Formats: sequence, C-alpha cells, structure tokens
Amino acid sequence: MGSTTLGLHRWPILAYQRVTLPQRSTQLLPKFYSLSSERCRRGGFGFGACSSKLEKSIRGCATNAFVVADDETYGNKQIISITPRLYDYILANVREPEVLRQLREETASMRGSQMQVSPDQAQLLAMLVQIHGAEKCIEVGVYTGYSSLAIALVLPESGRLVACERDSRSLEVAKKYYDRANVSHKVDVKYGLAADTLRSLILNGEACSYDFAFVDADKRMYPEYFELLLQLVRIGGLIVFDNVLWHGKVADPEVNDAKTVSIRNFNADIMEDERVSISMVPIGDGMTICRKR
Ligand SMILES: C[S@@+](CC[C@H](N)C(=O)[O-])C[C@H]1O[C@@H](n2cnc3c(N)ncnc32)[C@H](O)[C@@H]1O
Repeated sequence: MGSTTLGLHRWPILAYQRVTLPQRSTQLLPKFYSLSSERCRRGGFGFGACSSKLEKSIRGCATNAFVVADDETYGNKQIISITPRLYDYILANVREPEVLRQLREETASMRGSQMQVSPDQAQLLAMLVQIHGAEKCIEVGVYTGYSSLAIALVLPESGRLVACERDSRSLEVAKKYYDRANVSHKVDVKYGLAADTLRSLILNGEACSYDFAFVDADKRMYPEYFELLLQLVRIGGLIVFDNVLWHGKVADPEVNDAKTVSIRNFNADIMEDERVSISMVPIGDGMTICRKR
C-alpha cells in the first residue's frame, strides 16, 4: 500500500483528524500522551482516579497497548485501548479489496472524507452480512460509497442493497465505483432524505423483509431511523449504528452539545429497549449492533 491518509476521527480516544500511513508522523505521539494524561487526570475514562499502574501504561504506550482497566471491577481482565502503532497493526491485518482501496484514496482528497468508515469497520460490516447470509440490506448515509461497496461486494448475485443518500455529488462517486466493481445491479440507489425512503419501503409492503441495515447519517435522527428500520428488518435481522462513541464525548459528562447529548440519549434508550439484543463495539468511532428479537 502506498502512503495513504486515513481519517481517524472515529477513534474513541485519539483526537487526531488525520494520520498519514504508513509513514506515520512521530510528532503525533506526544499529543496522544498529553491528551491521555489530561483526560486521565479528569477521570475522563470513567474508571475514577488514575492509578500509578495506569500512569505507567500511558508512559509506555509508544509500544504497548494503553491499559484502561485491569482491576477486580472487571475480574482483572486487562482492557486495552489502541495506540497509533497498534492501529497500524490492525490496518495491516485488514483485507481491503483493491476497488475499496481505490475508492478510499479518491475520497481522501474530497470534502468530508473523514466521514467514511475505516477499513476495519468496513470489513466488520461485510463479515456481519456474510455471517448473517443477508440478501436484503439497507444503508442510511452512503457518501462516496465505501461502506455500501464493502457490503455490495459480499452480497450474493440475488442480493440487494437499498442505498439512501441526499447528496447527489457524492453519489456520483459511489455509482462510479459500483460500476467499477460490477455490483451496480445489486445496489438500489435512493437519492433523497433517508427517512422518506424508509417510509416508502414500508408503504410498499416491505416491512419485516430486510436482513441487515447500516445507519451512518444524521446522528440526531438515529431514534427515528431505529423505529423505521425495526419495522423493515425481520426478526433476527441486524441494525448497525455508527459513531455511537462520538469521539469519546458520550462518556464525558462535561460535554453536552446537541449531537453528543442525542447520541448519549440514543445509547441509553437502546440499552433499555427489549425489542433488540445489543452489542456496542469499540471499533472506529464505535458501532452498536442491534439484533431484532
Ligand atoms: C458519515 S457519511 C456516510 C459515510 C459512508 N457510510 C461511508 O462509509 O463512506 C453520512 C452521509 O449521510 C448523508 N446524509 C445526511 N443526512 C441525510 C439524510 N437525512 N438522508 C440521506 N442522507 C443523509 C450525508 O450527505 C453524508 O454523505
């Protein structure tokens, strides 16, 4: 892989907007230490005051994973965060199809490129679709198509992905890559507001017929997308929400801007919602996988 720029805004703890790979700038590392130490002093990780063991972990994080918990609260299980070096290692273990790499690199120079999911997230989405044997899928928030293409590539020939996006310019890029990857016949692009598209699918009699949905648009609409998608997916179907950790802000009681509060409330509501089983996964900026009961 050539030198590639990835948007890492989705990391829950690191605050860098962009990092150059694979020749990562070592100048970024001290910023990571100080950010971590600062948040640690403020108890921003939710584990109370910093232990000396934790401070040692912070100092050692150039090479070691950053241990965020290893006490009896969690049965002494060592929970780690991700350092830049460890993330490089994770990315080096992602099997990114060539066409997705091309799309990611073309998108990197475009406005909003930090919005696309990371390669490890896309790989997880594709894996979920495959494990689930999904045929009918929905994506809310296509942008230039990175996550939708990852899904379409693993759908069977009979599969269909309804791809909802309101920005025609980014859709042009997405369509170019669906063509390039020979998956255009599997993608039903719906240009317009996603909630309108989802409502029209329900009116079309498609309730309870979808296997998989991925939501990555307009965070304040998550509760509405959730209700509409719960109608559209079958029992056992999956709905995956991106950005549920919102740069780590959801866990910081001092951050109360509208988007953070709406995602925090959404997470709390999902936690209590008996209609779904859930798993919050700390990948990218955090994804919650919901399975309809
Ligand atoms: C985070 S980006 C999606 C990134 C994409 N999943 C990827 O991996 O490349 C969010 C996209 O949702 C679109 N969007 C935002 N609100 C929308 C709405 N109400 N209806 C449809 N699309 C919307 C934006 O135009 C933007 O392209």
